[in-house]
Amino acid sequence: MEFFLDTADVNEVKELIDTGFVDGITTNPTLIARSGRQWKDVVKEMCAIVEGPVSVEVASLDYETMIQEARRLADINEKIAIKVPLTPAGLRVCKELSTDDIMVNVTLCFTPVQALLAAKAGATFVSPFVGRMDDIGHDGMDLIKDIRVIYENYAGLGANILAASIRHPLHVLQAAKAGADVATIPPSVLRQLYKHPLTDRGIDAFVKDWESTGQKI
Ligand code: E4P
Repeated sequence: MEFFLDTADVNEVKELIDTGFVDGITTNPTLIARSGRQWKDVVKEMCAIVEGPVSVEVASLDYETMIQEARRLADINEKIAIKVPLTPAGLRVCKELSTDDIMVNVTLCFTPVQALLAAKAGATFVSPFVGRMDDIGHDGMDLIKDIRVIYENYAGLGANILAASIRHPLHVLQAAKAGADVATIPPSVLRQLYKHPLTDRGIDAFVKDWESTGQKI
């Protein structure tokens, strides 16, 4: 399972890259707005730091403008995965880009059949938003489970399941159990993955006991 960082904050990426757990990046218009920076600067800096895919979302909704934006984004760096919304126009763009071997991340997926459409359109990644499903009273993880079953039924569907809208470590655990190929994780949640009070308590005790021996390694 790969971990992407779900952020447009370049400093967070710089801080976390040495963990070895940042396999790629996902951004979205909200995250770019929150960064307060020019999207192009953010994207170029991200591409210089990470080895894996950097998802960047188109801004338009109509096919003609979307495909122009997508091609402009793809020209910036080959690491860029073009994020398109799960709409008829978005999937048309997806099909066209994937024919040209450009990575596409189909975003805002909320049903298994939407994920089937995205895969048939040649998506590299399909992003089911588990947290937003939880927010409206559904079990977001059911989405990942159902998509996994569908994709396993048809080996020719090459799309990767990218569990998105991850809110806490339990989502990461559940997504891993459900067979998501990737989880895109906010920096705060990635840091939480290391944590357990017994780990901290154990370290404290070992440090204290080792010091009491007066030895060095
Ligand atoms: C995924 O690509 C999105 O950027 C993200 O996971 C959305 O998460 P949110 O529902 O917490 O905004």
